[in-house]
Amino acid sequence: MASNLIAPSVLAADFANLQRDVEMINNSNADWFHIDIMDGVFVPNISFGMPVLRDIVKYAKKTIDVHLMIINPDRYIKTFADLGSNILTVHYEACTHLHRTLQAIKAEGMKAGVAINPHTNVDLLEDTIHDIDLVCIMSVNPGFGGQSFIENTYKKVQKLKEIIIRNNADTRIEIDGGVTDKNAKQLIDAGADVLVAGSYVFKSNDPIQTIQGLKDLIG
Ligand code: DX5
Ligand code: ZN
Repeated sequence: MASNLIAPSVLAADFANLQRDVEMINNSNADWFHIDIMDGVFVPNISFGMPVLRDIVKYAKKTIDVHLMIINPDRYIKTFADLGSNILTVHYEACTHLHRTLQAIKAEGMKAGVAINPHTNVDLLEDTIHDIDLVCIMSVNPGFGGQSFIENTYKKVQKLKEIIIRNNADTRIEIDGGVTDKNAKQLIDAGADVLVAGSYVFKSNDPIQTIQGLKDLIG
């Protein structure tokens, strides 16, 4: 992997100034747009849906990384492909036939991601690791921005990295939730490749500089 990536989470943007915030990410040194889709069933919150994503994609000039926090994600794979998602991540806990879901995502021309909740053991991914382009390790319980980082995440990253290396797989590790300048470097050192950051970026006085600060930290 060439370098480590930052994916600002649009969930923390100002939705009344969404185009402004999308342009901010375009003009920053960020790598991906992280898009959180919630259904109020898989997680106890509802974020935004297709019309909002369509308008984000209209202006976004970087990779669109969609994180589906919904039950039965298979129903919407084609919809998200048509909307312009480049990476589609489904939750391990929401998929009865994960292997089939991953193939369906790839058949639509997207990279396939799997997100795991804090209680889900990374060992459960060993049998599908070759089919997974991105594992999103949740470092908070999904559903809300602005929560505190769960320290056990470092161990999970190390363990998953071992699985990836042992299987000679081409899988990236993304961390989602509570990422700040306090944990970014340690996460990369543990084996992470992509850091999602919502409130830490958008609640700062100078988001472009905050993104640059994270990039400098993680190299
Ligand atoms: C949480 C979402 C995250 C969230 C991260 O359910 O998946 O992407 O936006 O926000 P912060 O960085 O504020 O924890
Ligand atoms: Zn997310």
